[in-house]
Amino acid sequence: MARRKKIYEGKAKTLYEGPEPGTIVQYFKDDATAFNAEKKAVIEGKGVLNNLLSEYFMLGLTNIGVPNHFLKRLNMREQLVRSCEIVPLEVIVRNYAAGSMAKRLGIEEGTQLPRPIVEYCYKDDKLGDPLVTEEHIAAFGWASPQDMDDILSLALRVNDFLSGVMYGVGIKLVDFKIEIGRVYEGDFQRLIVADEISPDSCRLWDIETGQKLDKDVFRRDLGSLTDAYTEVAKRLGVMPKTS
Ligand code: C5P
Repeated sequence: MARRKKIYEGKAKTLYEGPEPGTIVQYFKDDATAFNAEKKAVIEGKGVLNNLLSEYFMLGLTNIGVPNHFLKRLNMREQLVRSCEIVPLEVIVRNYAAGSMAKRLGIEEGTQLPRPIVEYCYKDDKLGDPLVTEEHIAAFGWASPQDMDDILSLALRVNDFLSGVMYGVGIKLVDFKIEIGRVYEGDFQRLIVADEISPDSCRLWDIETGQKLDKDVFRRDLGSLTDAYTEVAKRLGVMPKTS
């Protein structure tokens, strides 16, 4: 029985038409992918954890005035979000060297960066989301210079908020990725944080032990991804009900 119209199916989420115009239902799947979907698995419970964690982070952002797409959680797998046009960029903020930047620049993973570094990748799975500069973004019209000011400001505010929240529960925010949506309000457009914020899109290391509590556990076969995400959810007091 078709409940509603599917708008888009991505690697970790499916989007359905929402109950009101301008809304979307975001369904969190248990699918995990890495290396541009070369590595795949179904991790039971991941969707539930990411739904709850993304709700927690988005509500926190709303509380400090950072505009985002989250409206409300509908159930353990779904949340209602504002419909928006996704800017075709992945916005990455790094506090410590890791992953692709550590490799690209030959910096040891874990090295603290002199200041947060913001990078942009062009969202295109076929191309493997290549790193681009603001020159490419302006020349190809993916975002205007004014948009880029707003995107930088959103990214740094999210970084301050997330770093603080994670530090409070003994976790280092190494880096993360956000996506940005464009919404129209009358004659104006506004940029908001969209997609999800979860251990799928962040690097989170335990401050004491260095233990990885994010998707690198799956990428690098370091143990149970569910255990890692559950640990993050437990520390933040965001746990699925077991009964
Ligand atoms: O792989 P890389 O080091 O560039 O990733 C930086 C950060 O962005 C990591 O936290 C990673 O989980 C996130 N990311 C993501 N989706 C991508 C690429 C990176 O969530 N497609």
